[in-house]
Amino acid sequence: MGTEFVSCSFLLLLFTTLAPAVASDGVGVLRLPSMDFDAQNQGRSSAHIGHSSSASSADAIKDPTAKVFALIKDLVVGNRMAISFPYKEPSSVEFYPKQVTQNIPFSSDAVPWLLRFFSFSPDSKQALGMRQTLALCEKEPKQGDIRGCVTSIESLVQFARRILGPGTEVEILRSSLVSKSTPLVQNYTVLDFKEVATGNIVPCHNQPYPYPVYHCHYQLGIHNKVFKVFLRGDNGELVDSVFFCHMDTSKLTDDHVAFRLLGVKPGESEVCHFFTAYDLATVPFIPK
Ligand SMILES: *[C@@H]1O[C@H](CO)[C@@H](O)[C@H](O)[C@H]1NC(C)=O
Repeated sequence: MGTEFVSCSFLLLLFTTLAPAVASDGVGVLRLPSMDFDAQNQGRSSAHIGHSSSASSADAIKDPTAKVFALIKDLVVGNRMAISFPYKEPSSVEFYPKQVTQNIPFSSDAVPWLLRFFSFSPDSKQALGMRQTLALCEKEPKQGDIRGCVTSIESLVQFARRILGPGTEVEILRSSLVSKSTPLVQNYTVLDFKEVATGNIVPCHNQPYPYPVYHCHYQLGIHNKVFKVFLRGDNGELVDSVFFCHMDTSKLTDDHVAFRLLGVKPGESEVCHFFTAYDLATVPFIPK
């Protein structure tokens, strides 16, 4: 179903190509577009769940891009639900070849050089996004966290192996891109679904940068699950989506928009959301 297989000599990468869904981080970090819409995510509404305050929770409920949350019990073949899959240009989500990115410095120290290289003026939006992305990428992980940024498929696989284990064949899951004419929100019918992984899942999110850069984040001991869900939009668009579930929601605040939208309470239920095409999940590859 629209799934592309990309294999590199020693590893097997599998891209689920179809439609975008939404974003998530490790547990405890599911940012929502209008909730902590910060410069890290400017222009890319990334829906995450986190400890963010709910000041804008009422607005977030009305925000069409918040239509990404669901529960595992909603995965029923034939079920119809409204979901937001924003359109993105493939050029903003597909990694550049390593040969291109490995020779470009990637550090805050190199910003003056990078601004000249990309011809950005120092106070431009692009320069701001670049500085913020580099600052995020250079942030020290908290205890129990593993985080970092990747600029190529190879660096993504290397990062994932720190968590999934050396030599693990890594499967990269991503919701497929929708076409430009697909409505931001429409009803989708569940055609099929399957659980892909539980436990070791490394989510990564696209950050503002002149070429695709993903921030990956993993919390030790956190229980997540990921599903592939095959959907058909009312406009006929087929979406091969990634559905990411935070199984432990006890540490989230109960005013999070996801709980309001789903009518559940922290700790009582999992919270899941559809990934966009600009979020990735890496899991151990399990041959059929
Ligand atoms: C989805 O379908 C429901 C029920 O048919 C309808 O009320 C709702 O307006 C639809 N939503 C969208 C975004 O089309």
